[in-house]
Amino acid sequence: MYSPMPFPPLQQKVLLGKRGGIAYWHGAIKLQEGTLREVLIKEMLSGDQEVRRRFWQEGEVTTRLRHIGVTRLVARSEQRLAFDWIPGESLRLLLNRQHTMPLAEGVNLLRELLGALEYLHSEGVVHHDIKPENVMLPVGWPQVAQPVILVDFGMAYDHLKAQDIHAGTRMGTPQFMPPEQFRGVRGDARSDLYSAGALLFDALVGHPPFPNALGWLAGFDSTQFSVPGPLPLSQLISTALRREPADRIQTAAKMMDMLLRIPV
Ligand SMILES: Nc1ncnc2c1ncn2[C@@H]1O[C@H](COP(=O)(O)OP(=O)(O)OP(=O)(O)O)[C@@H](O)[C@H]1O
Ligand SMILES: [Mg+2]
Repeated sequence: MYSPMPFPPLQQKVLLGKRGGIAYWHGAIKLQEGTLREVLIKEMLSGDQEVRRRFWQEGEVTTRLRHIGVTRLVARSEQRLAFDWIPGESLRLLLNRQHTMPLAEGVNLLRELLGALEYLHSEGVVHHDIKPENVMLPVGWPQVAQPVILVDFGMAYDHLKAQDIHAGTRMGTPQFMPPEQFRGVRGDARSDLYSAGALLFDALVGHPPFPNALGWLAGFDSTQFSVPGPLPLSQLISTALRREPADRIQTAAKMMDMLLRIPV
């Protein structure tokens, strides 16, 4: 059951944009002890049942998550979610600009992302929408010590919630979506690891791994681009991207092990 909390006073808000029935604001909220906290606010404008359920789901899941590599919810109400503002840009923006990144940077990025995924999976949460748009890089990355942060839990599944709001729906982005998600089957840790493999591919090669993503997901086209680089890298990516979850890398810790074997 959704239980709203009082939302703190909003200050200095600047509208970033409106999309899909949600308004995005950059601003500050005043916390109970009087301090200002810089935040990203998502405000639900839509009356659409599906948009509302996803919005509330994001609030429910993120409210209990505490990890340096995971977006931090600081306040929520029925209409608003406030997350700590992350100074930086998404991995998508960086790739739009520079197309690819060097192997050592890709390995570092994935190592950080896997730290966050290991935590989420140990909490019984599957993100279900790992892609460059949802990974935030701090200003100055990779030269700075600040962490890479995973955002956007609108598709997440939380084993603590009795009801699975996404069952039977096709969620995610075809280029990064594992085949079971395309079939509407709820994924597990291995689904996020599939998407993490596709993300690494995109970051290193400059495009996602399947030229015909929908054909691959539907099962009639298995053409996959090859991965340039050392053998441990192509082994990691090709195992992460197997069609059957049982044939894939099974845990974030295992993927981390394989990552450490890549010479950079
Ligand atoms: N805490 C944050 N601080 C700063 N920017 C953020 C923060 N969280 C998300 N963003 C940026 O806003 C964009 C949209 O956020 P998010 O993915 O959570 O929203 P969404 O409603 O799922 O939208 P979309 O449909 O674009 O995925 C992200 O791609 C990211 O660039
Ligand atoms: Mg997003």
